[in-house]
Amino acid sequence: MTIGAPLPHDSAPLHVTGQARYVDDVPLPGNALHLAFGLSTRAHAEITAFDLSAVRRAPGVVLVLEASDLPDMPDLSPTVQDEPLLAQGKVHYAGQAIFLVVAETHLQARKAARLAKITYNDLPALLTVEEALAANSRFEQGPILWTRGDVAMMSTAHTVIEGEFEVGGQEHFYLEGQIAAAIPQEDGMHIISSTQHPTEIQHKVAHALHLPMSAVRVEMRRMGGGFGGKESQGNALAVACALAAHATGKPCKMRYDRDDDMIITGKRHDLKIRYKAGADAEGRLIAVDFQHLIRCGWSQDLSLAVADRAMLHADNCYWIPNIRIESHRLKTNTCSATAYRGFGGPQGIIGIERVIDHLAHTLYLDPVEVMHRNLYAPMGAPPQTTPYGMEVEDSITDKILNTVIKSSDYHARKAQIEAFNTSSPILKKGIGVTPVKFGISFTLTFLNQAGALVHVYQDGSVIVNHGGTEMGQGLNQKVAQVTAAVFGLTAAQVKITAADTAKVPNTSATAASSGSDLNGKAAENAALTIRDRIAAFIAEKHQVQPETVRFKDGMIRVGGESYDFARVVNWVYQARISLSSTGFYATPKINWDRIRGQGRPFLYFAYGAAVTEVVIDTLTGENRILRADILHDCGNSLNPALDIGQVEGAYVQGAGWLTTEELVWDAKGTLTTHAPSTYKIPAVSDRPTVFNVALWTDPNREDTVGKSKAVGEPPFNLGMSAFFALSHAVASCGEAYPALNAPATAERVLMAVTRVRHV
Ligand code: MTE
Ligand code: MOS
Repeated sequence: MTIGAPLPHDSAPLHVTGQARYVDDVPLPGNALHLAFGLSTRAHAEITAFDLSAVRRAPGVVLVLEASDLPDMPDLSPTVQDEPLLAQGKVHYAGQAIFLVVAETHLQARKAARLAKITYNDLPALLTVEEALAANSRFEQGPILWTRGDVAMMSTAHTVIEGEFEVGGQEHFYLEGQIAAAIPQEDGMHIISSTQHPTEIQHKVAHALHLPMSAVRVEMRRMGGGFGGKESQGNALAVACALAAHATGKPCKMRYDRDDDMIITGKRHDLKIRYKAGADAEGRLIAVDFQHLIRCGWSQDLSLAVADRAMLHADNCYWIPNIRIESHRLKTNTCSATAYRGFGGPQGIIGIERVIDHLAHTLYLDPVEVMHRNLYAPMGAPPQTTPYGMEVEDSITDKILNTVIKSSDYHARKAQIEAFNTSSPILKKGIGVTPVKFGISFTLTFLNQAGALVHVYQDGSVIVNHGGTEMGQGLNQKVAQVTAAVFGLTAAQVKITAADTAKVPNTSATAASSGSDLNGKAAENAALTIRDRIAAFIAEKHQVQPETVRFKDGMIRVGGESYDFARVVNWVYQARISLSSTGFYATPKINWDRIRGQGRPFLYFAYGAAVTEVVIDTLTGENRILRADILHDCGNSLNPALDIGQVEGAYVQGAGWLTTEELVWDAKGTLTTHAPSTYKIPAVSDRPTVFNVALWTDPNREDTVGKSKAVGEPPFNLGMSAFFALSHAVASCGEAYPALNAPATAERVLMAVTRVRHV
């Protein structure tokens, strides 16, 4: 069994012994130079005077570039041309790059960058979504609006609830920060970059240097985490290195230190959700009206697609007959918000989960009861459609929810928690449940393609290269397992090499959780081509049909004989038959019209549910997760060990987003939480004390690789159950609905406790 084997991450021993090579570990020639940006300290201003003489005079400085040195300013944007490498006359956020220092050492470059004298003329800065809305500062002409049915049906509801809900952003906090290096070649540029999107880096560098893409080669062995933060945010470093390498003829490297990384790069989009919902007396939704006010920051980046995905997940698992979703993509003088695990999906899902929780509280119903009454019809029943017109054919939320409610002993524990709360004056417990339905595919349809390259060498060893990038998720191991299975080998017999634009071209970002779906299929197709050639060769020798040839346990069986794989491969080689092939895959069935908001943007959905118990201290707001029970759908898991790792990590990261990870900008638009001393990500000790994670492993009904389902992002949403558990604990302190904002930091929990006590 190769597919489905719970193998460890292929680099696990290298990770834990410190031998895994990241960009900064790659030895560069001794003459390599190092780069740093000089940053804007203002959120919105004209640059009136500019004195870089001290920077130029600083020790070790080789070159300083400012906008006027680059009349043909390179652009960094992944979508539209609105991101110049260096600010041109005006700055649009505190942290924007104004000039570039190239020096002999990393420290010299950073020190020199601090010596600039820049005079600004401050302009009014739009920092909040309200300010941007009032100024009509937005991307796209107006809000995007999708409706189904008629939200005026709200008037027939038994109960109507209404609220406004703030949801914070999130810093990616990849362990390895942004980094790139450029090594000039005799006829082009070689880039190594910590990127989820080597082809985008190639494209941007080629554009900046006026070279064809064929003259730029981008390599990426592994990232120390990406989480969406390395889909577009690595462009600046790679382009800067390429320019400096081109200008000096020397290898150039740029690495942001943690503070710069947090100040410069985009984060998860924060937003404000306004909601109004009507339901019957049993909590069945009649109409829901959402307004998303999304803070996109100063440049467009991937914001439109992120905001779309938030709209696409505004229903989560629930059939809503009348719904209206209005999405404002607001342009502000803050860092440009970007992709982050879930890509807007979590921001959409949390809105409807808040509605369910608020309704349940108002109707004195258990939220799980309200969930059940609103779930999409289960798989097998006539399918119901999403607000965007896609039939939900594969819903297993009912099964997953029932199973985890039972395995977690939810009802009995809830009764115990309520009993505990009546007798415990200071500590209060809470329990929260979140079901998840997450759409799998890029919503930009053309991105749903992948390529791979497989070589079988004459000694029987195998190499596979594919368009995906490894960021810790275990993609390479999964692709190795899929490839090995085709040849009847073990995963260890298949070697995976660094992502490389010279081997597999025109790749999409490794994103949207689709890495193994797309690249797994592409590698499988490449391997099948080679296997067919081997089978045809050996079948002919034995005068049997090629279909009767079997590849298993390192052996090839044909016509009653059994040969070592390597032996047959050598015969194939001697017979002058190619043992190398490319493979390609394009996701079937999908079509999507984003302006009309209609179509089938996803091949399928991944499902899951979580139950979380927390305890809060009502004197301080301090809180802990006591227990989490998760059941998550991976289809026929390609590797249950890796999948469980993804589910655990995603849950903790999701809970971090909504509890401790708070981003604070001051009144002038300066990010004040730009280091781990002020920005609190979950630590090992924040892991739930009891953490039961199980996989739902019914095969995917769609024809995906090994009938598996994508796992990278969907379980991130399960962390919401921690937030709703906190809300439940707060609710026990009074009558009013807690109306917690996210992140529910200790401070916010304490304020909410005080509020419900006094309403
Ligand atoms: N897991 C680890 N360890 N590190 C990461 O950076 N990124 C997440 C998720 N899991 C990430 C991760 C994100 S945002 C995505 S889109 C997927 O992995 C990408 O990988 P996949 O498509 O191969 O699952
Ligand atoms: Mo993941 S946010 O799609 O990189």
